[in-house]
Amino acid sequence: MTYLITGGAGFIGGNFIHHMLSAHPDDKIVCYDALTYAGNLETLAPVMSNPNFAFVHGDITDRATVNAAFETHRPDVAVNFAAESHVDRSIDNPGLFLQTNVIGTQILMDACRKYGIKRYHQVSTDEVYGDLPLERPDLLFTEETPPHTSSPYSASKAAADLLALAYHRTYKLPVTISRCSNNYGPYHFPEKLIPLMIVNALNDKALPVYGRGENVRDWLYVSDHCKAIDLIVQKGGIGEVYNIGGHNEMRNIDVVKLILKELGKPESLVTYVTDRAGHDLRYAIDPAKISRELGWLPETSFADGIKLTINWYLENRSWWERVITGEYLSYYAAHYNN
Ligand code: NAD
Ligand code: TYD
Repeated sequence: MTYLITGGAGFIGGNFIHHMLSAHPDDKIVCYDALTYAGNLETLAPVMSNPNFAFVHGDITDRATVNAAFETHRPDVAVNFAAESHVDRSIDNPGLFLQTNVIGTQILMDACRKYGIKRYHQVSTDEVYGDLPLERPDLLFTEETPPHTSSPYSASKAAADLLALAYHRTYKLPVTISRCSNNYGPYHFPEKLIPLMIVNALNDKALPVYGRGENVRDWLYVSDHCKAIDLIVQKGGIGEVYNIGGHNEMRNIDVVKLILKELGKPESLVTYVTDRAGHDLRYAIDPAKISRELGWLPETSFADGIKLTINWYLENRSWWERVITGEYLSYYAAHYNN
Protein backbone atom coordinates (compact mmCIF):
# COMPACT_ATOMS: atom_id res chain seq x y z
CA MET A 1 0.00 0.00 0.00
CA THR A 2 1.11 3.52 -0.73
CA TYR A 3 -0.16 6.35 1.49
CA LEU A 4 -0.11 10.00 0.47
CA ILE A 5 0.09 12.06 3.66
CA THR A 6 -0.50 15.77 3.11
CA GLY A 7 0.70 18.17 5.81
CA GLY A 8 3.13 15.52 7.06
CA ALA A 9 5.80 18.08 7.98
CA GLY A 10 3.44 19.55 10.58
CA PHE A 11 2.66 18.48 14.13
CA ILE A 12 0.09 15.68 13.82
CA GLY A 13 0.99 14.68 10.24
CA GLY A 14 4.65 14.28 11.29
CA ASN A 15 3.71 12.12 14.26
CA PHE A 16 1.41 10.10 11.96
CA ILE A 17 4.24 9.44 9.49
CA HIS A 18 6.49 8.18 12.32
CA HIS A 19 3.63 5.98 13.54
CA MET A 20 2.85 4.55 10.07
CA LEU A 21 6.46 3.74 9.17
CA SER A 22 6.88 1.79 12.39
CA ALA A 23 3.39 0.19 12.49
CA HIS A 24 3.34 -0.72 8.75
CA PRO A 25 7.00 -1.23 7.78
CA ASP A 26 6.09 -2.78 4.41
CA ASP A 27 3.97 0.15 3.24
CA LYS A 28 5.16 3.25 1.39
CA ILE A 29 4.60 6.74 2.76
CA VAL A 30 4.72 9.82 0.57
CA CYS A 31 4.59 13.15 2.40
CA TYR A 32 3.20 16.07 0.41
CA ASP A 33 3.73 19.41 2.15
CA ALA A 34 4.06 23.08 1.19
CA LEU A 35 6.43 23.74 4.13
CA THR A 36 4.58 26.82 5.37
CA TYR A 37 5.75 28.42 8.64
CA ALA A 38 4.18 25.38 10.39
CA GLY A 39 5.97 22.75 8.29
CA ASN A 40 9.39 21.61 9.42
CA LEU A 41 11.59 19.09 7.61
CA GLU A 42 13.51 18.47 10.84
CA THR A 43 10.40 16.69 12.11
CA LEU A 44 10.90 14.20 9.28
CA ALA A 45 14.71 14.00 9.55
CA PRO A 46 14.60 10.58 11.31
CA VAL A 47 12.77 9.00 8.32
CA MET A 48 14.28 10.87 5.36
CA SER A 49 16.64 8.00 4.49
CA ASN A 50 13.98 5.30 4.93
CA PRO A 51 13.56 3.65 1.48
CA ASN A 52 9.80 3.45 2.07
CA PHE A 53 9.53 7.21 2.53
CA ALA A 54 9.42 10.02 -0.04
CA PHE A 55 8.94 13.76 0.37
CA VAL A 56 7.22 15.97 -2.22
CA HIS A 57 7.37 19.74 -1.78
CA GLY A 58 3.98 20.99 -2.96
CA ASP A 59 0.89 22.98 -2.15
CA ILE A 60 -2.51 21.25 -2.02
CA THR A 61 -4.04 24.25 -3.79
CA ASP A 62 -1.70 23.74 -6.77
CA ARG A 63 -3.62 21.31 -9.00
CA ALA A 64 -0.74 20.59 -11.38
CA THR A 65 1.66 19.63 -8.58
CA VAL A 66 -0.99 17.58 -6.75
CA ASN A 67 -1.79 15.70 -9.97
CA ALA A 68 1.91 15.15 -10.69
CA ALA A 69 2.34 13.60 -7.22
CA PHE A 70 -0.58 11.24 -7.91
CA GLU A 71 0.86 10.37 -11.36
CA THR A 72 4.27 9.58 -9.89
CA HIS A 73 3.32 7.79 -6.69
CA ARG A 74 -0.17 6.35 -7.45
CA PRO A 75 -1.30 6.33 -3.80
CA ASP A 76 -3.87 3.77 -2.62
CA VAL A 77 -4.85 5.97 0.32
CA ALA A 78 -4.72 9.73 0.89
CA VAL A 79 -4.84 11.22 4.39
CA ASN A 80 -5.25 14.99 4.45
CA PHE A 81 -3.62 16.75 7.41
CA ALA A 82 -2.59 19.81 5.36
CA ALA A 83 -4.27 22.90 6.73
CA GLU A 84 -3.86 26.30 8.21
CA SER A 85 -4.52 25.28 11.80
CA HIS A 86 -4.26 28.23 14.20
CA VAL A 87 -7.48 30.01 15.23
CA ASP A 88 -5.71 33.30 16.05
CA ARG A 89 -4.11 33.44 12.60
CA SER A 90 -7.52 32.73 10.99
CA ILE A 91 -8.89 35.85 12.67
CA ASP A 92 -6.12 37.89 10.98
CA ASN A 93 -6.30 36.23 7.55
CA PRO A 94 -9.50 34.23 6.88
CA GLY A 95 -8.91 34.12 3.10
CA LEU A 96 -5.80 31.96 3.45
CA PHE A 97 -7.77 29.49 5.59
CA LEU A 98 -10.53 29.18 3.00
CA GLN A 99 -7.99 28.76 0.22
CA THR A 100 -5.94 26.02 1.92
CA ASN A 101 -8.57 24.24 3.98
CA VAL A 102 -11.49 24.28 1.53
CA ILE A 103 -10.08 24.71 -1.98
CA GLY A 104 -7.05 22.56 -1.14
CA THR A 105 -9.34 19.77 0.05
CA GLN A 106 -11.38 20.04 -3.15
CA ILE A 107 -8.26 19.82 -5.34
CA LEU A 108 -6.98 16.79 -3.44
CA MET A 109 -10.32 15.01 -3.73
CA ASP A 110 -10.48 15.86 -7.46
CA ALA A 111 -7.11 14.12 -7.87
CA CYS A 112 -8.43 11.14 -5.91
CA ARG A 113 -11.34 10.92 -8.36
CA LYS A 114 -9.13 11.37 -11.41
CA TYR A 115 -6.52 8.78 -10.49
CA GLY A 116 -8.67 6.47 -8.32
CA ILE A 117 -8.19 5.84 -4.62
CA LYS A 118 -9.16 3.15 -2.12
CA ARG A 119 -9.62 5.67 0.71
CA TYR A 120 -9.61 9.42 1.23
CA HIS A 121 -9.41 10.40 4.89
CA GLN A 122 -10.14 13.97 5.96
CA VAL A 123 -8.52 14.96 9.27
CA SER A 124 -11.01 17.31 10.88
CA THR A 125 -11.57 18.80 14.31
CA ASP A 126 -14.09 18.98 17.15
CA GLU A 127 -14.11 22.75 16.52
CA VAL A 128 -16.63 22.20 13.68
CA TYR A 129 -19.25 21.61 16.40
CA GLY A 130 -18.78 25.09 17.92
CA ASP A 131 -18.65 25.23 21.69
CA LEU A 132 -20.53 24.00 24.76
CA PRO A 133 -21.57 25.95 27.86
CA LEU A 134 -19.20 25.77 30.83
CA GLU A 135 -22.06 25.05 33.22
CA ARG A 136 -23.38 21.97 31.35
CA PRO A 137 -20.68 19.28 31.85
CA ASP A 138 -23.29 16.68 30.86
CA LEU A 139 -23.24 17.90 27.21
CA LEU A 140 -20.74 16.33 24.76
CA PHE A 141 -20.25 16.56 20.98
CA THR A 142 -21.45 13.44 19.15
CA GLU A 143 -21.16 12.77 15.41
CA GLU A 144 -24.81 13.90 15.14
CA THR A 145 -24.13 17.34 16.66
CA PRO A 146 -24.69 19.81 13.78
CA PRO A 147 -21.79 22.00 12.59
CA HIS A 148 -21.98 25.37 14.35
CA THR A 149 -18.71 27.18 13.90
CA SER A 150 -17.20 30.21 15.65
CA SER A 151 -13.89 31.10 13.96
CA PRO A 152 -12.80 31.37 10.32
CA TYR A 153 -10.61 28.32 11.06
CA SER A 154 -13.48 26.14 12.28
CA ALA A 155 -15.77 27.41 9.51
CA SER A 156 -13.18 26.42 6.89
CA LYS A 157 -12.77 22.95 8.45
CA ALA A 158 -16.56 22.45 8.58
CA ALA A 159 -16.84 23.52 4.93
CA ALA A 160 -14.17 20.95 3.98
CA ASP A 161 -16.05 18.22 5.91
CA LEU A 162 -19.29 19.01 4.10
CA LEU A 163 -17.47 18.97 0.77
CA ALA A 164 -15.92 15.58 1.58
CA LEU A 165 -19.35 14.16 2.43
CA ALA A 166 -20.72 15.68 -0.80
CA TYR A 167 -17.92 14.01 -2.83
CA HIS A 168 -18.83 10.72 -1.18
CA ARG A 169 -22.54 11.04 -1.93
CA THR A 170 -22.25 12.53 -5.43
CA TYR A 171 -19.12 10.85 -6.82
CA LYS A 172 -18.94 7.81 -4.51
CA LEU A 173 -15.47 8.88 -3.35
CA PRO A 174 -14.54 6.48 -0.49
CA VAL A 175 -14.33 9.14 2.20
CA THR A 176 -13.93 8.92 5.98
CA ILE A 177 -13.71 11.87 8.38
CA SER A 178 -12.32 12.11 11.91
CA ARG A 179 -13.00 14.96 14.33
CA CYS A 180 -10.49 15.04 17.15
CA SER A 181 -10.14 17.14 20.28
CA ASN A 182 -7.02 19.24 21.06
CA ASN A 183 -3.77 17.33 20.61
CA TYR A 184 -0.47 17.79 22.43
CA GLY A 185 2.92 16.06 22.24
CA PRO A 186 6.27 16.19 20.39
CA TYR A 187 6.84 18.44 17.33
CA HIS A 188 3.98 20.80 18.28
CA PHE A 189 4.55 24.31 16.89
CA PRO A 190 4.95 26.72 19.83
CA GLU A 191 2.10 29.02 18.82
CA LYS A 192 -0.47 26.63 20.37
CA LEU A 193 -1.24 26.68 24.08
CA ILE A 194 0.80 23.77 25.49
CA PRO A 195 4.08 24.14 23.53
CA LEU A 196 3.90 27.95 23.79
CA MET A 197 3.63 27.75 27.56
CA ILE A 198 6.44 25.18 27.84
CA VAL A 199 8.79 27.20 25.64
CA ASN A 200 8.00 30.53 27.33
CA ALA A 201 8.40 29.00 30.79
CA LEU A 202 11.77 27.51 29.79
CA ASN A 203 12.80 31.00 28.62
CA ASP A 204 11.39 32.66 31.80
CA LYS A 205 9.04 34.70 29.58
CA ALA A 206 5.45 35.76 30.40
CA LEU A 207 2.79 33.07 29.84
CA PRO A 208 -0.09 34.86 28.03
CA VAL A 209 -3.43 33.43 29.20
CA TYR A 210 -6.50 34.70 27.33
CA GLY A 211 -9.33 36.17 29.38
CA ARG A 212 -9.49 34.52 32.78
CA GLY A 213 -8.13 31.15 31.67
CA GLU A 214 -11.47 29.46 32.31
CA ASN A 215 -12.06 28.12 28.79
CA VAL A 216 -12.02 24.35 28.67
CA ARG A 217 -10.29 22.10 26.12
CA ASP A 218 -10.36 18.28 25.87
CA TRP A 219 -6.71 17.15 25.50
CA LEU A 220 -5.49 14.00 23.72
CA TYR A 221 -1.89 12.81 23.40
CA VAL A 222 -0.95 12.92 19.71
CA SER A 223 0.02 9.24 19.35
CA ASP A 224 -3.50 8.24 20.44
CA HIS A 225 -4.89 10.41 17.63
CA CYS A 226 -2.49 8.81 15.12
CA LYS A 227 -3.54 5.28 16.15
CA ALA A 228 -7.20 6.26 15.81
CA ILE A 229 -6.69 7.59 12.27
CA ASP A 230 -4.75 4.44 11.30
CA LEU A 231 -7.67 2.33 12.57
CA ILE A 232 -10.26 4.39 10.68
CA VAL A 233 -8.26 4.16 7.46
CA GLN A 234 -7.94 0.35 7.83
CA LYS A 235 -11.40 -0.50 9.19
CA GLY A 236 -13.67 2.56 9.28
CA GLY A 237 -16.96 2.58 7.39
CA ILE A 238 -16.94 4.51 4.09
CA GLY A 239 -18.91 7.76 4.38
CA GLU A 240 -18.65 7.68 8.19
CA VAL A 241 -17.57 10.39 10.63
CA TYR A 242 -15.70 9.39 13.82
CA ASN A 243 -15.15 11.57 16.87
CA ILE A 244 -11.81 11.09 18.65
CA GLY A 245 -11.18 12.22 22.23
CA GLY A 246 -10.12 10.96 25.62
CA HIS A 247 -12.58 12.55 28.09
CA ASN A 248 -9.84 14.81 29.41
CA GLU A 249 -11.35 18.26 29.88
CA MET A 250 -9.24 20.90 31.57
CA ARG A 251 -9.40 24.66 32.11
CA ASN A 252 -6.56 26.49 30.35
CA ILE A 253 -5.30 28.01 33.59
CA ASP A 254 -5.02 24.55 35.18
CA VAL A 255 -2.98 23.28 32.21
CA VAL A 256 -0.68 26.31 32.43
CA LYS A 257 -0.17 25.95 36.20
CA LEU A 258 0.57 22.24 35.82
CA ILE A 259 3.28 23.00 33.23
CA LEU A 260 4.84 25.59 35.58
CA LYS A 261 4.78 23.08 38.44
CA GLU A 262 6.40 20.34 36.33
CA LEU A 263 9.14 22.76 35.25
CA GLY A 264 9.64 24.22 38.74
CA LYS A 265 8.81 27.74 37.49
CA PRO A 266 6.82 30.37 39.44
CA GLU A 267 3.12 31.09 38.83
CA SER A 268 4.06 34.78 38.66
CA LEU A 269 4.96 34.10 34.99
CA VAL A 270 1.21 33.84 34.21
CA THR A 271 -0.01 37.03 32.51
CA TYR A 272 -3.69 37.51 31.73
CA VAL A 273 -4.09 39.12 28.29
CA THR A 274 -6.99 40.32 26.10
CA ASP A 275 -9.34 37.48 25.26
CA ARG A 276 -9.51 35.94 21.76
CA ALA A 277 -12.40 37.31 19.67
CA GLY A 278 -15.26 34.78 19.53
CA HIS A 279 -13.36 32.52 21.96
CA ASP A 280 -15.03 29.07 22.21
CA LEU A 281 -15.87 28.29 25.84
CA ARG A 282 -15.65 24.54 26.02
CA TYR A 283 -14.96 21.53 23.76
CA ALA A 284 -15.87 18.01 24.86
CA ILE A 285 -15.89 14.96 22.59
CA ASP A 286 -17.97 11.82 22.98
CA PRO A 287 -15.73 9.12 21.42
CA ALA A 288 -18.24 6.27 22.04
CA LYS A 289 -18.67 5.43 18.32
CA ILE A 290 -14.98 4.79 17.54
CA SER A 291 -14.62 2.80 20.79
CA ARG A 292 -17.71 0.71 20.12
CA GLU A 293 -17.23 0.13 16.38
CA LEU A 294 -13.44 0.04 15.99
CA GLY A 295 -12.26 -0.82 19.52
CA TRP A 296 -10.18 2.36 19.89
CA LEU A 297 -9.32 3.62 23.37
CA PRO A 298 -6.78 6.27 24.38
CA GLU A 299 -3.62 4.79 25.92
CA THR A 300 -1.80 7.81 27.37
CA SER A 301 -3.23 9.66 30.39
CA PHE A 302 -2.78 13.42 30.60
CA ALA A 303 -0.56 12.99 33.67
CA ASP A 304 1.84 10.83 31.63
CA GLY A 305 1.41 12.68 28.33
CA ILE A 306 2.27 16.09 29.71
CA LYS A 307 5.46 14.69 31.32
CA LEU A 308 6.44 13.01 28.02
CA THR A 309 5.77 16.27 26.18
CA ILE A 310 7.75 18.45 28.60
CA ASN A 311 10.65 15.99 28.47
CA TRP A 312 10.58 16.08 24.68
CA TYR A 313 10.88 19.90 24.70
CA LEU A 314 13.70 19.67 27.24
CA GLU A 315 15.57 17.12 25.12
CA ASN A 316 14.89 18.76 21.73
CA ARG A 317 15.81 22.37 22.36
CA SER A 318 17.40 22.75 18.94
CA TRP A 319 14.08 21.80 17.21
CA TRP A 320 12.10 24.57 18.89
CA GLU A 321 14.89 27.13 19.18
CA ARG A 322 15.23 27.11 15.39
CA VAL A 323 11.46 27.52 15.05
CA ILE A 324 11.06 30.55 17.31
CA THR A 325 12.94 32.90 14.97
CA GLY A 326 12.03 34.96 11.89
CA GLU A 327 8.32 34.76 11.01
CA TYR A 328 7.49 33.47 14.50
CA LEU A 329 8.98 36.53 16.19
CA SER A 330 7.06 38.98 14.00
CA TYR A 331 3.82 37.01 14.49
CA TYR A 332 4.41 36.91 18.24
CA ALA A 333 5.11 40.63 18.51
CA ALA A 334 2.11 41.61 16.37
CA HIS A 335 -0.28 39.25 18.17
CA TYR A 336 0.72 39.62 21.81
CA ASN A 337 1.76 43.26 21.79
CA ASN A 338 -1.79 44.13 20.74
P1 NAD B 1 0.16 22.19 11.73
O1 NAD B 1 -0.18 23.63 11.52
O2 NAD B 1 1.17 21.82 12.75
O3 NAD B 1 0.68 21.56 10.35
C1 NAD B 1 0.06 21.82 9.12
C2 NAD B 1 0.96 21.26 8.02
O4 NAD B 1 0.28 21.49 6.76
C3 NAD B 1 2.32 21.98 7.91
O5 NAD B 1 3.33 21.01 7.68
C4 NAD B 1 2.16 22.89 6.70
O6 NAD B 1 3.38 23.13 6.02
C5 NAD B 1 1.19 22.08 5.84
N1 NAD B 1 0.43 22.94 4.93
C6 NAD B 1 -0.24 24.08 5.23
N2 NAD B 1 -0.79 24.58 4.11
C7 NAD B 1 -0.51 23.72 3.11
C8 NAD B 1 -0.82 23.69 1.73
N3 NAD B 1 -1.53 24.65 1.16
N4 NAD B 1 -0.38 22.64 0.99
C9 NAD B 1 0.36 21.64 1.56
N5 NAD B 1 0.71 21.64 2.87
C10 NAD B 1 0.27 22.66 3.62
O7 NAD B 1 -1.23 21.47 11.99
P2 NAD B 1 -1.58 20.23 12.95
O8 NAD B 1 -1.83 20.75 14.31
O9 NAD B 1 -0.61 19.14 12.73
O10 NAD B 1 -3.00 19.82 12.35
C11 NAD B 1 -3.08 18.87 11.29
C12 NAD B 1 -4.53 18.65 10.94
O11 NAD B 1 -5.23 18.18 12.09
C13 NAD B 1 -5.24 19.92 10.50
O12 NAD B 1 -6.10 19.60 9.44
C14 NAD B 1 -6.03 20.35 11.72
O13 NAD B 1 -7.20 21.03 11.35
C15 NAD B 1 -6.35 19.00 12.35
N6 NAD B 1 -6.53 18.99 13.82
C16 NAD B 1 -5.60 19.55 14.65
C17 NAD B 1 -5.77 19.46 16.03
C18 NAD B 1 -4.74 20.01 16.98
O14 NAD B 1 -4.96 19.99 18.21
N7 NAD B 1 -3.59 20.49 16.53
C19 NAD B 1 -6.88 18.81 16.56
C20 NAD B 1 -7.82 18.25 15.68
C21 NAD B 1 -7.62 18.33 14.31
P1 TYD C 1 -5.01 26.72 21.00
O1 TYD C 1 -3.83 25.89 21.37
O2 TYD C 1 -4.83 27.88 20.06
O3 TYD C 1 -6.12 25.71 20.45
P2 TYD C 1 -7.68 25.98 20.09
O4 TYD C 1 -7.74 25.64 18.65
O5 TYD C 1 -8.42 25.03 20.97
O6 TYD C 1 -8.06 27.37 20.36
O7 TYD C 1 -5.65 27.29 22.33
C1 TYD C 1 -6.10 26.42 23.36
C2 TYD C 1 -6.74 27.28 24.43
O8 TYD C 1 -5.73 28.10 25.02
C3 TYD C 1 -7.79 28.23 23.89
O9 TYD C 1 -8.86 28.33 24.82
C4 TYD C 1 -7.08 29.55 23.78
C5 TYD C 1 -6.06 29.49 24.90
N1 TYD C 1 -4.79 30.23 24.67
C6 TYD C 1 -4.33 31.13 25.62
O10 TYD C 1 -4.96 31.34 26.68
N2 TYD C 1 -3.17 31.80 25.36
C7 TYD C 1 -2.46 31.63 24.22
O11 TYD C 1 -1.41 32.31 24.02
C8 TYD C 1 -2.95 30.68 23.25
C9 TYD C 1 -2.19 30.44 21.97
C10 TYD C 1 -4.11 29.99 23.53
